[in-house]
Parts: sequence; structure tokens; C-alpha cells
Amino acid sequence: MSIEELADLIKEAANIIVNSEVVISFTGAGISAESGIPTFRGSGGLWENYRVEDVASPEGFKKNPKLVWEFYLERRKKIAKAKPNPGHLALAELEKIFEETGENRKFYVITQNIDNLHKEAGNKNVIELHGNIWYTRCSNPACENSKPFLDKKMEYEELPPRCDICGSYLRPHVVWFNEPLPQDAINDAFALASEADAVIVVGTSGVVFPAAYIPYIAKERGGKVIEINIEPSAITKISDVFIMGKAGIVLPEIVKRVKELIGVE
Ligand code: OAD
Ligand code: ZN
Repeated sequence: MSIEELADLIKEAANIIVNSEVVISFTGAGISAESGIPTFRGSGGLWENYRVEDVASPEGFKKNPKLVWEFYLERRKKIAKAKPNPGHLALAELEKIFEETGENRKFYVITQNIDNLHKEAGNKNVIELHGNIWYTRCSNPACENSKPFLDKKMEYEELPPRCDICGSYLRPHVVWFNEPLPQDAINDAFALASEADAVIVVGTSGVVFPAAYIPYIAKERGGKVIEINIEPSAITKISDVFIMGKAGIVLPEIVKRVKELIGVE
């Protein structure tokens, strides 16, 4: 891609955003790559030393809850060191711009990430489809503690930790393979997708469903799809504007252009 082509695509993306009332950004592991958190399907993926089914499935948890907790505590330690990068910060700026430029304008981030970095960057409208690493819940659905609670512990006296109300094992508040997504999150996400004038897809391979329906729903209802990725993804075939590049470089450029177009500082 030449510099001129890149500049044109950035202008095109910014034009779409400025002319939209409802915009969502659908993000995946790629947006956090520049914060030092490895992606799933890339080389050096997070699952490297573990088999996914052992540490991220209900069956794995049943078989060896201690191993699952060791894995997630390791991830907590890694994520605790990570900070939002310019890609996250650009999306936070975009939310502010939308808030300030019209009553009916809405900007939401819908993320598959569990690392909390969108919220740390300052986004308030965030839908977490796959949970959040900093929340824990009781594995007994009948227990009051089955409602997720904030839990920043990196070590426990006993692994797996037990619920202090009912004594069942606690579990990380993340979605595992073969598990349904949180009902509210997916409902809200699909509703937003169906009213979105534009969806900015960032750093996702787009192969994990139901999350990956989001850009298709938006497209079907007439929304424009803008995509940013370092390589083509499963979603690229429906993208109206595909910008090949790093999220931390491309997103700030788009936001800069948006600000020029609407004349804010
Ligand atoms: P993947 O690891 O499948 O995909 C990461 C995407 O980010 C790839 O398309 C990369 O090309 C792209 N990428 C890498 N670095 C980038 C950068 N600096 N800028 C822009 N793009 C970049 O991660 P996800 O699509 O998020 O689910 O994976 C989806 C789900 O699969 C995860 O949420 C997780 C996993 O199974 C659960 O845990 C339920
Ligand atoms: Zn309990």
C-alpha cells in the first residue's frame, strides 16, 4: 500500500465516521498486541504452553480447576503490566468526540478482549463479550456470588479458591469454549450492530462466533464496515474500507482526520 493510498483510505474512513450517528468499534486481540499482550492465533500465542481445552473449557475446569486458575493468574500478572496503547486511546477520544458533537450520536466499543484496556483508556461505553479478567464469580449458579465481583488478586492461599458463601469453587469471569456469551452483552451488542451506521473492526480474525456476527449484522442493515488489521481477516470480504496497518498507528490517524473535518481541537 502506497502512502497516497493509505492517506486516501484514512480520509474515506474519517468521512464515514463524521457522517454517522451511531458508530461501533468491534475489537479483538490485535488491538492489544501493541500493549504487549499476545494474540490467540498469531505466533507466540497465549495458549502456547497450554492446551486450550485444558485451561479454557468447562470440561478442563472440571478436570483440573487448579491448573485453570494457575493459567488465569499468570494472565493477570501479564495483563497487569500492560497499558492502553495509542489505538485504545484513539477509540477513547472518539467516544468523547461523539458525546460532544450531538445528542443522537453514539459510540460504543464492543470487545472480545478480557484485558480491560478499553476502560483503562477512558471508554465508558464498552461491551465485553467474553468477560473480564479482573472479575471472579462463584461456579454455583444458584449462589449469590455467581454475580461477577471485582477481584484483583494475583495469588490465593488455596487453589482453586472457594466461595465464602457456599464453598463451591470460584471461577474467572471469562467465557470459555463451549460456553454461551453473557446474555445482556450479546443482546446489547446485536442491537447496536443493527442500528450502526458504521462499524470499525480492529484486530480480530473474525472467526469466533457469535461475536463475529456483529460486522455482518451492521452490513446487512446498511452500515459501512471499516477494518484495520495487519493482514486480511475473515471479515475483509465485507469491508467497505480495509486499512492494512497496526491499530496503534492507523486509529490515531483516523481520529486526527475526524477532528480536522469537524473542526475540534
Ligand atoms: P486472534 O488472535 O484470532 O486475531 C488477532 C487479529 O489481530 C489477527 O487478525 C491479526 O492479524 C490482528 N493483529 C495483530 N496485531 C495487530 C495490530 N498491531 N494491529 C491490528 N491488528 C493486529 O484474536 P481474536 O480475533 O480477538 O475467545 O480472537 C477471538 C476470540 O478467540 C478471543 O476472544 C478468544 C479466542 O478464542 C475466547 O476466549 C472466548
Ligand atoms: Zn458460592
